[in-house]
Amino acid sequence: MIGVFDSGFGGLTVLSALLRELPDYDYLYLADSARAPYGARSAEVVNEFTLEAVEWLFEQGCPLVVLACNTASARALRNIQQLHLPKRWPDRRVLGVVRPSVEALAGIPVGTVAIPDQTAPAETSGLVAVLGTQATIASDSYGIELRKLAPRLRLLQQACPLWVPLVEAGELDGPGTEFFLRKALAPLLPPHEAPRRVLLGCTHYPLLLPALRRIVPAETEILDQGGLVAERLADWMRRHPEQEAKLTRGGTRRFCTTDDPAWFAARGEKLLGSPIRAERVRLRTA
Ligand code: DGL
Repeated sequence: MIGVFDSGFGGLTVLSALLRELPDYDYLYLADSARAPYGARSAEVVNEFTLEAVEWLFEQGCPLVVLACNTASARALRNIQQLHLPKRWPDRRVLGVVRPSVEALAGIPVGTVAIPDQTAPAETSGLVAVLGTQATIASDSYGIELRKLAPRLRLLQQACPLWVPLVEAGELDGPGTEFFLRKALAPLLPPHEAPRRVLLGCTHYPLLLPALRRIVPAETEILDQGGLVAERLADWMRRHPEQEAKLTRGGTRRFCTTDDPAWFAARGEKLLGSPIRAERVRLRTA
């Protein structure tokens, strides 16, 4: 199975793109709904919770885990890849959403092996932007990766702390929502320079897309994170056949949550557009 982890149901925006791009594989989706949202939590806590989730997915037999959550990718991925895997699971892989998103922000075509130096075929000038939770933006993970791949591109990073609660409350449009969207987007709007691309660097934000499209300048491309992650994961699999060979292709989908499965299934079905049967599971401390 490919394990897909998110703090909650928002990561289904990434899973649904994976199911479109790579439908044959078996998937196990884990939502830590009992402890979501992660976006305002400290680095230490996000790291601890994410590690527990990854451990659980590994114990279920996933050779590959995708952190669909930006906050978890930004705060915990490097630690997991550099410290945890070599010690405990040298044959398993954990991938996040930051690196593929930065490649897309920098205009690096899919299929190009972007070596983190100045020779990566990235666009060399202009302004791009990323919107995310407080934890994602405070980590500067997008900045760190972009400086490696496209050091001359300018990056505007903007935290949007109220957007996840708006989506959770089902407030996807309307004057109240628009007020808070405009407030966070102010640095991207006239009289400021319009970015060439903006990345919705949070699993929940695609649900605000219709409202965002009306506000963000027409010349700014809004990147679809689920789609670009799925495309670049497919490419990663082509370049890592030894890892791809470990994945089973039965087309099964299993959904697990650390909170009420009925609540998760009701939310998830709307997002995924197909029926979900969810199970409650316990992580070490959730
Ligand atoms: N999944 C989180 C992310 O993509 C958003 C929700 C949360 O704050 O937990 O950053």
